[in-house]
Amino acid sequence: MLTIDHNDTLTAARTGTLALPHGTIEVPAFMPVGTNGTVKAISHAAVDNMGYRLILGNTYHLYLRPGKEVFETYGGLHAFSSWPHNILTDSGGFQVFSLAPFRKIRDEGVRFRSHIDGSYHHLTPESVVEFQRTLGSDIMMCLDECTPPEISYKKAIEACRRTTAWAKRSKVRWDIEREAGFEGKLFGIIQGNFFKDLRKISSEEIIELDFPGIAIGGLSVGEPKETFEEYLAYTSQFLPSEKPRYLMGIGTPDYIFAAVENGIDLFDCVFATRTARNGTVFTKDGMINLKKAGHALDKGPIEEGCTCQACTRYSRGYMRHLFKAGELFGPMLATEHNLQFLYDLMVEIRHSIREDRFSSFKKNFLDRYVKKGN
Ligand code: GUN
Ligand code: ZN
Repeated sequence: MLTIDHNDTLTAARTGTLALPHGTIEVPAFMPVGTNGTVKAISHAAVDNMGYRLILGNTYHLYLRPGKEVFETYGGLHAFSSWPHNILTDSGGFQVFSLAPFRKIRDEGVRFRSHIDGSYHHLTPESVVEFQRTLGSDIMMCLDECTPPEISYKKAIEACRRTTAWAKRSKVRWDIEREAGFEGKLFGIIQGNFFKDLRKISSEEIIELDFPGIAIGGLSVGEPKETFEEYLAYTSQFLPSEKPRYLMGIGTPDYIFAAVENGIDLFDCVFATRTARNGTVFTKDGMINLKKAGHALDKGPIEEGCTCQACTRYSRGYMRHLFKAGELFGPMLATEHNLQFLYDLMVEIRHSIREDRFSSFKKNFLDRYVKKGN
């Protein structure tokens, strides 16, 4: 499934290819988030044309709306949303905890109220695998319990223990689907909050279950950046090198470099697309907010040399006008730019690893990005 073409000599960074049911992708890769079966404010065609071959979907949202019957009727999320490449779906473990107005966790599963209409629902490790099979996910995730920073050790042990128990049950259910011919892969998720002994135990228990790929969960949940980096490095060292590694929920340049440096192959984040809809875009000199008055008469593009539609056809001044006037085209163009920016960044990162100059590329990129950033 994973072929590593080159390991960086100075860091744990690696580059290669990941073979999935809907085609092979180059790693390390950033995955745009398409929560509701659409990457917000951009067409699948544009995401496809940029070169993205793996996007995300969310079990929590798609289970609540449009629901299982629709996906059974259409034969899955690929056909329903007209996305011909790979889809990774998150399990709902994170979204139930962050979005549902009410939730009750038991060993059996999680009972929660919908954030849409207040209706009650129940998800179990088994039902979540089954739903992701109905979606036809190329990579599905185990139901897990993601906890916020600064919870007690006792609560963290509970969540860690439950995450492993749920991973075991997910695997049993996935094995049944696999024997019936399902080709999607199931990834386990490591938790353990911000306790090193729990991170180690969770890593060992999840790795032991021999999933096709492993994810690190429960990071970038509000902890300081140094804590994130410390726990990322600590947890990554346990991961088997022959399997794909996925760091859940990160996607800004500084966190991407940290992930890649620690041997991570996949990551996703709503940040690029969410912040774009708010008028904030990536540039090589840091992030800028297009709504600022300073851009009003600026005839230049967001980023000189960027090949996206926003940068090849429109000025910062025009973009500012779109945002000030509340035009939908503003968020659309900004989203396109941010996804192009991260796509290009990943291409450059992969090249730099292949040519053994990842660390100098990281330093040069971040020096400029952080120094001039505003
Ligand atoms: N997305 C970001 N972090 C997490 C996590 O810990 N678990 C899951 N399931 N999804 C995530
Ligand atoms: Zn651009």
